[in-house]
Amino acid sequence: MNAHIKNQAAFPETLATTDTSSTFNLARLRADFPILQRSINGKPLVYLDNAASSQMPQQVINRLVHYQAHEHANIHRGVHTLSQAATTEYENARIKAMHFIGAQEAREIIFVRGATEGINLIMHGYGRRFIGEGDEVIISAMEHHSNIVPWQMLCEEKKAKLRVIPMNDVGELLLDEYAKLFNARTKFVALTHVSNALGTINPVHEMIATAHQQGVPVLLDGAQAAPHIAVNVQALDCDFYVFSSHKMCGPTGVGILYGKAALLEKMQPYQGGGDMILNVTFECTTYNDIPHKFEAGTPAIAAGIGLGAAIDYITAVGLDNIAAHEHALLEHATHAARNIQGLNIIGTAQHKAAVLSFTLDDIHPHDIGTLLDQDGIAVRAGHHCAQPVMQRFGIPATARASFAFYNTFEEVDALIAGIHAVKKVFS
Ligand code: ALA
Repeated sequence: MNAHIKNQAAFPETLATTDTSSTFNLARLRADFPILQRSINGKPLVYLDNAASSQMPQQVINRLVHYQAHEHANIHRGVHTLSQAATTEYENARIKAMHFIGAQEAREIIFVRGATEGINLIMHGYGRRFIGEGDEVIISAMEHHSNIVPWQMLCEEKKAKLRVIPMNDVGELLLDEYAKLFNARTKFVALTHVSNALGTINPVHEMIATAHQQGVPVLLDGAQAAPHIAVNVQALDCDFYVFSSHKMCGPTGVGILYGKAALLEKMQPYQGGGDMILNVTFECTTYNDIPHKFEAGTPAIAAGIGLGAAIDYITAVGLDNIAAHEHALLEHATHAARNIQGLNIIGTAQHKAAVLSFTLDDIHPHDIGTLLDQDGIAVRAGHHCAQPVMQRFGIPATARASFAFYNTFEEVDALIAGIHAVKKVFS
């Protein structure tokens, strides 16, 4: 039942050929990803779990291998050639990340393990210092657990209060309700840029302006945004922004925390250790300047350099090309899914990233995921680390297809055929 996956997608000519110098040639792009040539259970792999982790092109893999084989040394510590070269490469990756999100200065870019660690760092470094008893933190009803639990922990410790922006039935935040949540005790807003479970792209520019009118700083969780839409932290005027490498064609184990320099300088360090100090005696320690103040210990050097290569790759493909192609895939998938009886799309906001979350009759999403896997189709099934979203929609779980720029229209068709086959098994 699985459609044969051709390298060249049948996407609109205009998208394929608007600029012949553009690297957005789908056949060529797909050839960069060795894993896309794989078979799973005897069928061509249809990889639609990109919101969990995207795949790596050969260029990023090569960069990782080259570092490990020829450049490996510890950074910031050695006078020897290898150490200095590794330091230069790692710091170049920081500069690439700075340009990628339009930050003003490289010292505003902190390497972390991923978006989750970035949020935890802000909770510890900013939250524990500036949020106290009776204060309030605003989050939204569509946060990933990683942007709920740290703030809950803080509120419990400080006897502060967590306030939640509600959403409507299509998965859009209620902006009037958001504005009403602010009061003199509001100290922080932590908000997802794009929902991992619903795909909603939140109107963050407007929401940041609302918070700033009240003098409240805003953290954006950009894990699902940075790989898919162009982000400029200065244009957004967000105070903090976090994203993960492994969702944007890079390796696991590294991500970026952006913070406005003035705020980062006021924050306390997250962890103590080497590299984050200027001077240590048994009596006291003085901390290093930002960003190093927040980077204790030997970091994931190879992964950081690999992230730099992933940023180069995505930048060459072009985020405008990526957003346009993924939007076309989502439209195609949504249209076809709406014609399947018993399929209910969870999350139909007007502005969406390429996430198709759905339930199908009363079939458990894990069964949907397992049966699709037998046809080589990888989707995620479950609560997507967003249990409150599931509770809001009165369901335990969904099946979720999430697209990347290397996916094709034929792959969407294979998904739709797979869903029909699942229905048949349960009919
Ligand atoms: N946060 C990742 C997801 O949405 C793991 O699947």
